[in-house]
Amino acid sequence: MKNNQVIKTLLAHRSIRKYTDEGVDRETIETIVMAGQQAAFAYQIYSVMLSTRKDKNPFKAPVLLTICVDLYKFERIMEKRRWKTIQNDLTLLMFGMEDASYMAQNMVIAAESLGLGTCYLGSPLWAMDKFAKAYKLPKRVVPIVQITMGHPAEEPPVRPRYPLNFTLFEDEYPKDLDIESAMKAMDDGYLAQEYYKKAGFMIDPTQVKKEDHTFENYGWTEHISRKLGLWMDDIDEQKELLKERGINI
Ligand SMILES: Cc1cc2nc3c(=O)[nH]c(=O)nc-3n(C[C@H](O)[C@H](O)[C@H](O)COP(=O)(O)O)c2cc1C
Repeated sequence: MKNNQVIKTLLAHRSIRKYTDEGVDRETIETIVMAGQQAAFAYQIYSVMLSTRKDKNPFKAPVLLTICVDLYKFERIMEKRRWKTIQNDLTLLMFGMEDASYMAQNMVIAAESLGLGTCYLGSPLWAMDKFAKAYKLPKRVVPIVQITMGHPAEEPPVRPRYPLNFTLFEDEYPKDLDIESAMKAMDDGYLAQEYYKKAGFMIDPTQVKKEDHTFENYGWTEHISRKLGLWMDDIDEQKELLKERGINI
């Protein structure tokens, strides 16, 4: 495998959920955001809200970044150019999520290259109204993900990933996916690290009617299956949240 400093940083990634009390100076924060901005973009339709109120931030992180898809800003530019958006909101939102995601991941890589730890938080997708209120976001600004950031106070192991042959397919999609060995790689890896046992966390075990799970056999594939098999079945709830943000799907 090829190797250099960038590859080393990328392969050493692990989410950090415990931080020291040390703050992150303004120059470092601005460097990280500028590295984020340098990501490729379709439209630059994003904004980043910063909170350094450690006591209020998740995991008491010294830095919390809330990444938003921001159609408001660009539509103000369009007004100056005497244009009105006709592009449909689903396409715009999908482009916005791409722009914002590449930007966010550049920030994570920049932060980790500077020795900081990070963790994404997905709650804005179903609690966008709460974050919109807290940050006084205008309509057409949609918070999609948060990143906590700070000096690591834990050293978790690097988490498993699917085998490459379950991810990289050449020329055509395989007829026979090797599902069993992909599941085994993920579940054995998480169980060996006692990931859920150490976190003391299992999703809604009481709602699950099939075989019982203990921390000895509750792995990543069961955990993620429960998320997709139990949560957010009502598309109208998500559409309603977006509607309140001025996005009509
Ligand atoms: C969109 C997104 C949302 C996430 N939401 C959460 C979250 O709400 N809470 C959390 O502790 N980790 C969250 N994570 C972090 C993932 O759990 C983590 O990246 C994944 O388990 C792989 O572990 P690693 O980052 O240590 O390699 C999220 C990651 C992404 C990309």
